[in-house]
Amino acid sequence: MATKKKKTSKPKKTSPKRAKLHGEVFFPSKEVIAQANLKDWDATAKRAGKDLEGFWADEASELEWAKPWTMVLDDSKQPFFKWFTGAQVNIVHNCIDRHLKTYRKNKLALVWESEDGKEERSFSYFKLNREVSLMASIIKSLGVEKGDRVTIYMGRVPEIIFAMLACAKIGAIHSVVFGGFSVDALQGRIADSASKLVITCDGSYQNGKLIELKRIADEAVAKCPSVENMLVVRRTGQVVTMQPERDHWYHELLESPVAKERFPTEVMDAEDPLFILYTSGSTGKPKAIVHTHGGYMVGTYTTLKYVFDLKDDDRWWCAADPGWITGHSYIVYGPLLNGATSFLYEGGPAFPNPGRWWQLIERYAITVLYTAPTAIRGLMRFGEDWPNQYDLSSLRLLGSVGEPINPEAWKWYYTVIGKERCPIMDTWWQTETGMFMITPTPVVPLKPGSGTRPFFGQEAEIVDEQGKPVKDNEEGYLVLKKPWPAMLRTIYGDPDRYVQQYWSKFPGKYMTGDSARRDEDGYFWIIGRVDDVIKVSGHRLGTAEVESALITHPAVAESAAIGLPHELKGQAIYCFVLLKPGQTASAELAEELRQHVAKHMGAIARPEEVRFVDKLPKTRSGKIMRRLLKARAQGLPEGDLSTLEE
Ligand code: WT7
Repeated sequence: MATKKKKTSKPKKTSPKRAKLHGEVFFPSKEVIAQANLKDWDATAKRAGKDLEGFWADEASELEWAKPWTMVLDDSKQPFFKWFTGAQVNIVHNCIDRHLKTYRKNKLALVWESEDGKEERSFSYFKLNREVSLMASIIKSLGVEKGDRVTIYMGRVPEIIFAMLACAKIGAIHSVVFGGFSVDALQGRIADSASKLVITCDGSYQNGKLIELKRIADEAVAKCPSVENMLVVRRTGQVVTMQPERDHWYHELLESPVAKERFPTEVMDAEDPLFILYTSGSTGKPKAIVHTHGGYMVGTYTTLKYVFDLKDDDRWWCAADPGWITGHSYIVYGPLLNGATSFLYEGGPAFPNPGRWWQLIERYAITVLYTAPTAIRGLMRFGEDWPNQYDLSSLRLLGSVGEPINPEAWKWYYTVIGKERCPIMDTWWQTETGMFMITPTPVVPLKPGSGTRPFFGQEAEIVDEQGKPVKDNEEGYLVLKKPWPAMLRTIYGDPDRYVQQYWSKFPGKYMTGDSARRDEDGYFWIIGRVDDVIKVSGHRLGTAEVESALITHPAVAESAAIGLPHELKGQAIYCFVLLKPGQTASAELAEELRQHVAKHMGAIARPEEVRFVDKLPKTRSGKIMRRLLKARAQGLPEGDLSTLEE
C-alpha cells in the first residue's frame, strides 16, 4: 500500500549552544542521548587531543595481551610508525578465546542466511571457536606456517570468516580477494603475495546465478607457481575439477585426523602482520596494504564501540562484503572484539525482490544497519512500499560508508528506514586507515552528507597544492595529521611506494587522496578522489587496472578509463579506446570490449560505455590526461592545458 510521502523532519528547536551550527542540522533526540554509552563527545575529544597515547593505551587495556607493551607509539622511524611495541597478542585471542571465559561463551557471534532464504546457520562464540580451530588445524596441516600468505577467494558464507580467523589464529597472513573479481585480478594478487595456499568455494550464488569460483581460481593459479595447495569449501554442489595432490575438499579434511576441535592460538608480536588487502591506487598495479595484530585490533575495537555504540543485545549488520576493508574491520574483527552478534547475508540487496533486506531486518531484529549510499539509492528507486511492508522498529542506528551520501538518499534512509528515530553515522575512512577516521558518534549533531569531525585523537586538515591550510569552505587536499593505531604499516614488499604514495607530497602528513572542504563548524565534506581511483558503487577500482584489461584485447592499441558521475553507482567507468590499425570501430566491438573487461576483472569493472577515438590527449611526457577527458565528457572547463602535447 502506498503511503503519502512524509515530509522530512525539520531541525529541532535550537538551544543557544545548538544555534552555533550552520546549515541543516539534525540533533540527537533525548532518547538517543539517554541510550548513548558515551555522552560527552567534547570531553573525550579534548582528552584524546591532549594525550593521544594515553587515550589509546586506555582503550588497549580493555583487551587482553599476552605481554604488555613497552611503548604505546614509536614514531622514531617516521613514516614507519609502530604501535604497542614490545607487546604480544593475537587478535583472535580477543575475538574469540577471551569471550569463552565469560557469559559470552554461549552468546551468538554470527548469524547467517543464504541467498534463497532457505538456510540459516548460527554460531555462538563457543561454536565459532570450534569452527575456527578446525579450519586452523587443517590449514596448518597443509604446510602453512606463521608469516605465510594465504589467499581467500570465496562467496559470502560463514566459512570465509572462519578462514580469515583461522589464518590469524596460526599467524598466517590472509589476503582476501573479493569474490566478485575475476581471473586477472585474482591472479595478480596471488602472485604478488606469493601465497602458498588458496582457499576457495566450488561456487557462489549471485542474484540467483552461479559464479564459478573454483574454475576462476584454477585459471588464476595455473600461472602462480607459489601455490602448493587449494582448499575447497563446498557451497553450490556444482561440478568442479579437483587436481589430485593440489586440491582438497574442506568437508573431507574435516572428517580426517588432521582436523582438531581444539587448537592453540599462536602468540604474535603486536606489530606482526595480520593481513594484506589489495586496493587500487593512482598508478600501476593494486597495492597490498598491511595491517597488524595489535594496532588494528585496538583501532577497530574502539571505533566500533564508540561510533555504533554497541551494546550486548545488539544485532549488528554490516552489509558489506568480507572481501573489502569494511568487511574485514566491521563484519569480522570489530564486532567479535566487542563480543557482538553479527549478521551476514549471502545475497545482494534486491534479489529476489527489493524487499529482501527489509525482510531480513525484521526477521533477525537487526538493531544497527551499516551500508553504502549506492545500496540506499538502488533500493530507494523501488519506492517506500517495499520497506513499509516490514517491521523495522528494531533499528536504533544507521550507518553509511564508501562514498559521499547525497542529501536525497540521506533523507530517504533517515525517514523511510530509520523513521526519523535513528541517527546516521556517516563514516569516512579507507582501506589504508583500517578504521573510521572522520565520523560522528550518536550524540553528535548531524549534517546530511558530512562525516562530521575526526575521530578521537585525530586531526584532519584541508591543504592546497603547497600544503598550506586553505580557508573554511574552500576545496583542497584532505590530510590527516596524527598517527592512529590501525594505520597501514607499509605496502607489502614495497616500502618505498608506501612513503612515496602517502607521505611525500605533504611531509609529516598522511595524504588521503581525497579532496574535501571543511565548513565553519569544523565539519568535513568529502568531494571525491583526486587521483585515478574510481568508486563504482562504493567499490574502489583503478583506471590502470581497467586499462590493462582492455589492452589484452587484440583490437586495442591504447585506452584511457575515467570515472563519471552516475545516478545509482556514484561513479561509472567510461573508456576511450584507440584501435589498432586495420580494426574498425562498431557498436558490436564496443560491447565486446565491455564484456572483455568484465570477464577479466569482474562484473563490477564492466565499463558503462566504450568510445572509440583517433587520439588520446597526452602530456608532452606521454602521460594520458584523464583529467581533460573527464572535463570534456562533462562539458566542464578544460583547465590548464600548458602541458598538453600539440
Ligand atoms: C575511499 C576509500 C573504508 C570504507 C570503504 C571504502 C571514499 C569512504 C566515505 C564517506 C565520502 C567516502 C573516499 C575514500 N569514502 N567513505 N563516508 N564519505 N567518501 O574504502 O575502498 O579504501 O575507499 O572511499 O574517497 O578515500 P576504500
